[in-house]
Amino acid sequence: MPENTSQLIDGFGRHIDYVRLSVTDRCDFRCVYCMAEDMTFIPKPQILSLEEILQLGQAFTELGVRKLRLTGGEPLVRNNVLSLIENLGALPGLDELAMTTNGSQLQRLARALKDAGVNRLNISLDSLNARRFRHLTRYGNLNQVVAGIDAAVDAGFESIRLNAVILKGRNDDEVAQLVQFACDRGIDIAFIEEMPLGHIQEHDRALSFISSASLHSKLSEKFTLEALGEPASNAGPARYHQVAGYASKVGFISPHSNNFCHLCNRVRVTVEGRLLLCLGNEHSVDLRQVLRDPTADLPMLKEAITRAMTLKPEKHHFDNNGEPEIVRFMNMTGG
Ligand code: GTP
Ligand code: 5AD
Ligand code: SF4
Repeated sequence: MPENTSQLIDGFGRHIDYVRLSVTDRCDFRCVYCMAEDMTFIPKPQILSLEEILQLGQAFTELGVRKLRLTGGEPLVRNNVLSLIENLGALPGLDELAMTTNGSQLQRLARALKDAGVNRLNISLDSLNARRFRHLTRYGNLNQVVAGIDAAVDAGFESIRLNAVILKGRNDDEVAQLVQFACDRGIDIAFIEEMPLGHIQEHDRALSFISSASLHSKLSEKFTLEALGEPASNAGPARYHQVAGYASKVGFISPHSNNFCHLCNRVRVTVEGRLLLCLGNEHSVDLRQVLRDPTADLPMLKEAITRAMTLKPEKHHFDNNGEPEIVRFMNMTGG
């Protein structure tokens, strides 16, 4: 792995070389763990323009950031997002341009995304049962998303990973089928413990919690999972296992049962230009104000970002019995 040369270093000695940029808070789904059914979205003047997002990309890459991931909401519902991707993909110093998507538009856009410079895709898929999929996403169409996943596989991305948030009694009986679905396509899959972001009415998060460890033991009845060890410092929150006999890996993202904050190499920017230093804390800096200040320039933006690193907290605290300590919804945060 290349040595981390990022100039962004926080108060705990962690080098930040990965930024998650949210390009919209809007989404064509309303996943039950992510949003309320009735959402109010941010008015347009408050959201960053594509030019402003590109300026952020330039500032971060000049500071040594090597990986950008576009998130949402659903990034593919933002108008002209492909032109932003092309411009971000051309930034010097960038090794990886990734996107997290719900897959609804991929049938149409997978190839264009690959051509525009996206090399890694994470695609949400919580169930292979069409009725359940509709319930969990409120608006999603399973066939459309599966066709989107297949289009992405055909387009030949460097890596594709499915994301499945597992809720007890809702989809925990499907984990083996989901792994088989990934193995059949030679792609990876991650199982995610639900995080208490935003107040939801639909279910009680404490009751729907199911630990990664219990999913692991359920999967072990059908597959041999070979642990790939402690993630390298920029490998993200997922702990990966190789599925013996297949090209696929299974990851577990366990914010409750396995705290991975000591390895954190990332920050995120909301579509309102708020630099969030941690997913599970409110520490933030308003970069939109700098972007829209007619007297500010790129060096000043870089200075604001560098100074913000001292605010990055040591870890998150998702241990409040499922009650959100963080009131923003995931679509506001960008995952
Ligand atoms: P990589 O870029 O490959 O590391 O992917 P990722 O797993 O970080 O990205 P993705 O957008 O697919 O997110 C999957 C899940 O991981 C989501 O539920 C995210 O909210 C969660 N996640 C991502 N980053 C963090 C983090 O810094 N802290 C916590 N607690 N969860 C995170
Ligand atoms: N807890 C855990 N994961 C969540 N996601 C959205 N909301 C939550 C939550 N409250 C997941 C989505 C997607 C990724 C970006 O975040 O399923 O895969
Ligand atoms: Fe949309 Fe993703 Fe949230 Fe589902 S989890 S509502 S697909 S942003």
